[in-house]
Amino acid sequence: MTMYSSRVKVVHRLLQYRHTPWCSLSSGKASCSRLVLGIETSCDETGAAVLDETGTILGESLHSQKQVHLRSGGIIPTVAQQLHRENMERVVQEALERSGVEPGQLCAVATTVKPGLALSLGIGLEFSRRFVRLHNRPFIPIHHMEAHALTVRMLQHVPFPFLVLLVSGGHSLLAVARGVDDFLLLGHTLDEAPGDTLDKVARRLSLIKHPQCSTLSGGQAIELLAKDGDRMRFNFRTPMGHTYDCCFSFAGLRNQVAMAIVKKEAEEGVEQGTLLSCVNDIAAATQHTVASHLAKRTHRAILFCKANGLLPSSSPTLVLSGGVASNQYIREALSIITETTGLHLLCPPAKFCTDNGVMIAWNGVELLREGKRILSPNVDVCYEPKAPLGVDMTAEVKAAAIRMPSVRLKIPH
Ligand code: KG4
Ligand code: ZN
Repeated sequence: MTMYSSRVKVVHRLLQYRHTPWCSLSSGKASCSRLVLGIETSCDETGAAVLDETGTILGESLHSQKQVHLRSGGIIPTVAQQLHRENMERVVQEALERSGVEPGQLCAVATTVKPGLALSLGIGLEFSRRFVRLHNRPFIPIHHMEAHALTVRMLQHVPFPFLVLLVSGGHSLLAVARGVDDFLLLGHTLDEAPGDTLDKVARRLSLIKHPQCSTLSGGQAIELLAKDGDRMRFNFRTPMGHTYDCCFSFAGLRNQVAMAIVKKEAEEGVEQGTLLSCVNDIAAATQHTVASHLAKRTHRAILFCKANGLLPSSSPTLVLSGGVASNQYIREALSIITETTGLHLLCPPAKFCTDNGVMIAWNGVELLREGKRILSPNVDVCYEPKAPLGVDMTAEVKAAAIRMPSVRLKIPH
């Protein structure tokens, strides 16, 4: 996967979030059965789902572009856009048909409008705009990262506030979720996201040629190969060891790995593009360093939250989500941190960690319940490829310069 493209220049108008609710939920009309259609197209999945107010999934459909992008060596925004265009209508139709719900029965349509690839966001938003006007339904614009953070609440009772670590091909961030639309951002990536790094390392290692990895994403391939690797054979430095904040950086690690690969290619006398004999060891060392970086930043975030009373004293929770969160080694590393600090670790099942229409519909349900961000079908909403999550607290975190006790990440494969 890729970092969200900054190359595409689009004029984006701010969303009018503080809009007067169109569908007054206390009125008779709003007794419409509070069903929400969610639509997701921010990156490389075209997703749609219909949920009722309790979070029951009545119907869903998902079209993944991952195999196409795997073959082309990363997401090409125009290809992603075309695939969304080809699948958008069918995916929404399928979700509606499977749910047995007619458009007129929907209480709202919730669609990802930020952040993401401009060309991809545009397809979902354009479709939604037409759909809500045609069927005269309220529209709820969704922040993709808010949706990731809240998905866990569809699956179990997780009261606010909680700490959340979101790690995917497009993002890494640490935030305190204080309410449905109330987040404190403690850290974010300064360059690339961990999934992006793993995908690039996998490509540099030509793992697509590995018999066990040809259909796996970079992160999945690295997790699989790392199981038979010895991480101690490569000593990659954990990033940002002397920066005492909760931000992330993975580009330097990617360079370290690339240099090690060049050295090994020279030693083995092979060309770039040949599978090295030590791929398992490189995979294990890379995975360990990513896990260690995520664990250290999260540990500091927990200490910051404790020092500032940002989490409840009884049963504080860390939610881990995003595509990279399906990595068992990374989960294990984070569980060592949560055990050490007395937090409870929650990871949604893999299918809810990655992008889908369900999480967008659920965010719509949460907003609908609180009567927030519900717009008239005629309001002009624009997408925003770049959109930070919540109130930026990264300067305060950095100023606190919290030093952590060292924790040994002794993780069995
Ligand atoms: O959330 P996601 O499906 O899509 C976005 O990036 O938004 O995440 C995909 C990313 C890819 O970079 C992929 O390599 C990574 O998640 N990933 C993994 C694993 N499965 C997927 N990374 C590490 N270990 C895994 N098991
Ligand atoms: Zn995502």
